[in-house]
Amino acid sequence: MNETYLGLDIGTSSIKALLVDRSQAVLAQASVPLEVQRPRVLWSEQAPEAWWAATEIAVAELRAQHPDAWSRLRAIGLSGQMHGATLLDADGAVLRPAMLWNDGRSGAQCATISVRVPDLTERAGNIAMPGFTAPKVLWVAEHEPAVFAATRYVLLPKDYVRYRMTGAMVSDPSDASGTLWLDVGRRDWDDTLLAAVGFTRANVPTLVEGSAVSATVSATVAAAWGIGAEIVVAGGGGDNAASAVGIGATRAGEGFLSLGTSGVLFAVTDHYVSFPARTMHGFCHALPGRWHGMSVHLSAAAALSWIAAVVGAGEDIVGLLGTVESWAATPRNRAEAPIFLPYLSGERTPHNDPEASGMFAGLRMDHGAPALVYAVLEGVAFAFADGLSVLREADARLDSCLLVGGGARSPFWCQMLADVLEIELSLPAGAETGAAFGAARLAMLAAGGDEATVCVRPAIERVFSPRPASHDASRLARYRALYEVERAGR
Ligand code: XUL
Repeated sequence: MNETYLGLDIGTSSIKALLVDRSQAVLAQASVPLEVQRPRVLWSEQAPEAWWAATEIAVAELRAQHPDAWSRLRAIGLSGQMHGATLLDADGAVLRPAMLWNDGRSGAQCATISVRVPDLTERAGNIAMPGFTAPKVLWVAEHEPAVFAATRYVLLPKDYVRYRMTGAMVSDPSDASGTLWLDVGRRDWDDTLLAAVGFTRANVPTLVEGSAVSATVSATVAAAWGIGAEIVVAGGGGDNAASAVGIGATRAGEGFLSLGTSGVLFAVTDHYVSFPARTMHGFCHALPGRWHGMSVHLSAAAALSWIAAVVGAGEDIVGLLGTVESWAATPRNRAEAPIFLPYLSGERTPHNDPEASGMFAGLRMDHGAPALVYAVLEGVAFAFADGLSVLREADARLDSCLLVGGGARSPFWCQMLADVLEIELSLPAGAETGAAFGAARLAMLAAGGDEATVCVRPAIERVFSPRPASHDASRLARYRALYEVERAGR
């Protein structure tokens, strides 16, 4: 019997569900949109109930698309947006909307935690950032004391969905790395970090590795979903770690560059890596005995969408990029293009500066739309170059790097990235590369699959090799100097 596996990604803009068979062919898929509530400046929230409701819709769609494959379901894997704080009372009831990874209200609480735990960065491997879970909980303690007093458990988004599915409170080390309560090196909760917000281990889920069994689906959910009684749920992973599993980035030196709304450079390591001083994210991988270094750049494809709207190109990004490519074929145009700082939503790596802003330098009368768009593409490539240098300094090497995310559909941008980063970048051949696919692979592993067989690398459609002569390194130096100018100008 060809068993099937469900991968569920609890994203910020949607819940994605994939049903794969043992050969990893995608048999059915569904995506159910989610909304983000922003009731005040800096706030970003979602109702945990909305995750569960969307999950049930996605599951119903998969079941309707392929009832036969659904009836052969063997295991479920979860991935999700990291960091979100879901506060539950002693009965497991939700106390307030979940505060998400891009919620920026807890800057003051980051400072408080850093004072309460002077060796915080050594313990957590990361600096306190408002994106992380612990400062959000401290914000609730200070601003909503009644809610905090009633809080018995805090779960991450995917772990809340697991709780609804199984009744068990469990997380995995990759997702738990983003709480600021984990000893990332030991892959276990740190009692001192928990105590900084008045917590003990009783307030957080137990931990299993991403590829291990965390629980089985409850009898009620199994009956409602029309699945067997013994369906196991894998530990799963944070969305980036799960994506890495999905593209077979499992060994030290393997990783990816993601040109999504934000940008991520992800390098697997076989040892714990940490470089908080330059805002590297030093996290556990979703597979045992491995970690990863990650740089996060808050405006990647988002910067391209922004400039496309500014120059009036609207939705025709492909046409716009074609014009820019022709313009950039003239070396003098490239040499004289403006330099752009892409910090349109602040920046994490390497500055940890939510107030950082975007900037053009070197504008002239003859600069039209192609020059501006070229500068934006190049500025994002420079942000990744900073990220790569941080990973290297932290001993997180990137020997092979796959391109993922919507921006990777532009060969021109991919080639520019290879030239600026001076590394080879490989584009997978139309393979499924999302976090939900990685979650489905974790389900296969939890059901007894072998990592070497399950976590294979996708076929490569195209390799972008660096062309040393085609990029002027002095432009990167000018970019790096510009951040101080931008700071001084605020
Ligand atoms: C990682 C991060 C995002 C979220 C949302 O640190 O903040 O990747 O996981 O996708």
